[in-house]
Amino acid sequence: MNSGQDLWKRAKNLIPGGSMLLSKRAEMFLPEQWPAYFSKAKGCQVWDLDGNRYTDMCIMGIGTNTLGYGHPEVDAAVAATVQAGNMSTLNCPEEVYLAERLVEMHPWAQMARFARSGGEANAIAIRIARAASGRDKVAICGYHGWHDWYLSANLSDEGGLDGHLLPGLEPKGVPRNLQGTVFPFNYNNFEELKALVDQHDIGVIKMEVSRNRGPENDFLQKVRQLATERRIVLVFDECTSGFRQTFGGLHKLYGVEPDMAMFGKALGNGYAITATIGRREVMEAAQSTFISSTFWTERIGPTAALKTLEVMERVKSWETITKTGLAIRARWQALAEATGLELDHWGLPALTGFTIKSPKALEYKTLITQEMLAKGYLATTGVYVCTDHTPEVIDGYFDALEPIFRLIKECEEGRDVMSLLKGPVCHAGFKRLN
Ligand SMILES: Cc1ncc(COP(=O)(O)O)c(C=O)c1O
Repeated sequence: MNSGQDLWKRAKNLIPGGSMLLSKRAEMFLPEQWPAYFSKAKGCQVWDLDGNRYTDMCIMGIGTNTLGYGHPEVDAAVAATVQAGNMSTLNCPEEVYLAERLVEMHPWAQMARFARSGGEANAIAIRIARAASGRDKVAICGYHGWHDWYLSANLSDEGGLDGHLLPGLEPKGVPRNLQGTVFPFNYNNFEELKALVDQHDIGVIKMEVSRNRGPENDFLQKVRQLATERRIVLVFDECTSGFRQTFGGLHKLYGVEPDMAMFGKALGNGYAITATIGRREVMEAAQSTFISSTFWTERIGPTAALKTLEVMERVKSWETITKTGLAIRARWQALAEATGLELDHWGLPALTGFTIKSPKALEYKTLITQEMLAKGYLATTGVYVCTDHTPEVIDGYFDALEPIFRLIKECEEGRDVMSLLKGPVCHAGFKRLN
């Protein structure tokens, strides 16, 4: 019985792609076998539609729940808001308290705007930054959501995002006349960015502070200096990196201050809330354009964020998840060495992953997911760590993983991995959208 797969088949007939989020498509994990839907989630445990319980050693809501699913204090705060009323003609006071809180922890910023998704926060930031700089052209490095402004990077050159997180992403439906407005550059390649700035009238630089590698040769400092010299608005997209390694933006770790930053994902511990913060002189450009939306004023998001920040600060969650993530990485490496496999490691410490160095990497990833599912784990080759990933949970995970690494080693030595798979191989990254 797999009620989740049955529902997934219905979904694909009704919802293009089956899910609103590419990363939650069943084919990204285990085609024809993945449970696909949850009935309940708590801590790092998830129950499927048939009542099977799994330990989530996987994407944890794609990075939304660093305090675990259903955190009791966050949920209680949200429940109180539901009781008191989530919407009204008047504004919710929590949005002001949240703005105060975010600028207090990022003293270079004085103002904030809120939205409910990372893509929205990015679109808000781009509009304000373009308005403030008076220039249209943007240099980008990283993933910044699904909106036209960003996908237009692929219009000028089909490989525009090659080397970035979304190689080959199709920009169909994005107006062709946005061509030549967004220019990608590679992380740690300052000369490439400088050449873009020299060639084009770049008004905004938007980038992730770090994703898979840390900055080298004062990269971030050089970007900051270039932006200041050329009066370019520097925007750090912290939607994923925020609150995973510091209390706030990852840029605090590197001592480089942007002109704007966005937070998403972890900010509300699973409730929808994202923020765009910035220097007053930049943010006030929002008054010279139109940025406005009904549900950006609901009350659950800021309520959840305020309580999440309170709990994060008290338990120092970023320290715990960073330590746990580094321990997981070290144990993957030790297991690989013990079994004779070679790994590439990627991701921030609290968002850690590996790739088995083999032409059959995708088949092995599928095998790991299949075998771990049978043992009660949602697992692929990456973990978004949460505070409920205790040492006991991690021990159990590695006990389950060890024989699978040995099986993979046997496959590397000639055993047919396809004969071990009970369904098709999982889809890779963002290239295959079906
Ligand atoms: C750095 C970054 N920016 C923006 C986004 C988009 O956020 P959302 O999926 O909430 O629209 C993501 C999501 O993965 C992200 O990692």
